[in-house]
Amino acid sequence: MKKIFVLMLALVMVVSSMCVMTGCGQDSKKKLVMATNAAFPPYEMYEGKNIVGIDAEIAKAIADKLGMELEIVDTEFNAIIGGVASGKYDMGMAGMTVTEDRKKSVDFSDSYATGVQVIIVKEGSAIATADDLFADGATYKVGVQDGTTGAIYCEDDLGADRVSSYSKGADAVQALIAGKVDCVVIDNEPAKNFVAANDGLVILDTEYVTEDYAICFAKDSELTEKVNGALKELIADGTVKKIIDKYITAE
Ligand code: ARG
Repeated sequence: MKKIFVLMLALVMVVSSMCVMTGCGQDSKKKLVMATNAAFPPYEMYEGKNIVGIDAEIAKAIADKLGMELEIVDTEFNAIIGGVASGKYDMGMAGMTVTEDRKKSVDFSDSYATGVQVIIVKEGSAIATADDLFADGATYKVGVQDGTTGAIYCEDDLGADRVSSYSKGADAVQALIAGKVDCVVIDNEPAKNFVAANDGLVILDTEYVTEDYAICFAKDSELTEKVNGALKELIADGTVKKIIDKYITAE
């Protein structure tokens, strides 16, 4: 009897010391690793050393709901889908548009926001509408962020020769200011931020393409349903709207 007791006590001690080593206590929540490209205000950007913005806050609310610890990894936009597909990251959230082509590599959550591809020009530009840019015989050059839908559409519609890709949207905007390109095609909310931050730029009234933003996951990942379930609840109870309204003031 005594032997069994000692044995059981030993077992308890081994298990609990393993818990200390591996941290299976309360504060060892499972990690939810989100890949983003934190140069896309107001969806993701730096505030000091922290990544903030609509995506960061929605992701945090999802992680909280799932009892997980959110870790945000900042990477190149065009590295997100590959990294998610290969399992390097649990999910990608980056103002990312759902496209048929991307669906071949990743699965998407429900959509939580809408984006519009718009055209930024210098004040007084000869490009006054989207039609001017796409007119037959036009030679205007476009700056875009590498790997984005804006880049893909422009390359399809104008040919790769007329499109210059930059690793950040803000770099494309600097190229416009420097006169290296004649316009920038990018999502509307970052466009507003970039135009507000630089003198002499305007966004054309004619919109190019409207799209849905969603979170991406590795194909058949078990996280898709969990995260999407949490997202659905956060949409239904108004949390997502509240977060979006905090960063985007209606005009
Ligand atoms: N919505 C566009 C796309 O999915 C641009 C997204 C860029 N996002 C970013 N965080 N840089 O291609």
